[in-house]
Amino acid sequence: MKPAVLLTHRIPSVVMSRLEASCEVDLYDGPDAIPAEELTRRIAGKQALIAMLTDRVGADVMDGAPGLKIVANVAVGYENVDIPAARSRGIVVTNTPDVLTGAIAEFTWGLILAIARRIAEGDRVIRRGGWKGWALDFMLGMELQGKQLGLVGRGRIGQAVAAKAPAFGMSAVFANDDMSLDELLVTSDVISVHVPLTAETRHMFDRRAFARMKRSALFVNTARGAVVDEAALEWALRERLIAGAALDVFEHEPHVGEALRSMEHVLLVPHLGSATRETRTAMASLAVRNVLAVLAGEPPVTPVTKRGAERGDGVPASDEPGGVQGAPPTK
Ligand code: DGY
Repeated sequence: MKPAVLLTHRIPSVVMSRLEASCEVDLYDGPDAIPAEELTRRIAGKQALIAMLTDRVGADVMDGAPGLKIVANVAVGYENVDIPAARSRGIVVTNTPDVLTGAIAEFTWGLILAIARRIAEGDRVIRRGGWKGWALDFMLGMELQGKQLGLVGRGRIGQAVAAKAPAFGMSAVFANDDMSLDELLVTSDVISVHVPLTAETRHMFDRRAFARMKRSALFVNTARGAVVDEAALEWALRERLIAGAALDVFEHEPHVGEALRSMEHVLLVPHLGSATRETRTAMASLAVRNVLAVLAGEPPVTPVTKRGAERGDGVPASDEPGGVQGAPPTK
């Protein structure tokens, strides 16, 4: 008999057929995230769960399937999975590092360029009929050439973003490596966040942090919304303590507050960092490889390691960097 797998969202057919070749797949095919009760009900009798980052996988879900061997999260972040609960039940948890690094780095640069040069704002001006013609001082933005990019989080994504900085004439610096976080906040022209959400990083960008930034600074977040105290960010933007923000992630997704939605100097994007056909296929494929390996009694390809889980960065066992003393976790 084939092992039973619960899949909480449709995946590309090429990957689906690989999964179906060796497993009995129970697919939740709703347009939105699987409701919590449905997840708890349908997990019964499953040996594997392929979960999305919108699924809360807690002890209750795990206890619904005593034979559960693996939770394969289709995301690099895994704060939606109760790691200690999985560990104490002998359930392997895997994530999808590496395969989305390039997509998120590209996307981060898209946000940096768009907010610095007011691209989405300009689009809105034209659409509402507000453009009266070219003028020397109309909608001036900030040039990136010669400016400092402050990166918080030196994981794969942070490093991939830094690697593209010379193309725009920017110097990239990392917090806790090139300089202290405090110095980075004070001196950077663009600040981009690349840490996972952990107890340590939750609300690390608070009123104090925003108050330290230059008034001309632009803040970019493609990591996790709750790394930022959103009320503090709204305050900093309202008081013009910083010049603007580009946000792909939010504290209470999919809710985005009226204050952020009403501000012109904020660019809002619905969590699209890894959203390319290539990357989403690669993420699903890696999750399936993890499931097939574990169900075959082999080691998972990209397990969330004990050390990674403590740090919250999901670095696979084969790829743990030396790390920097005192550095924030990486994503
Ligand atoms: C992740 O994998 O954690 C990303 O946020 C998905 O876009």
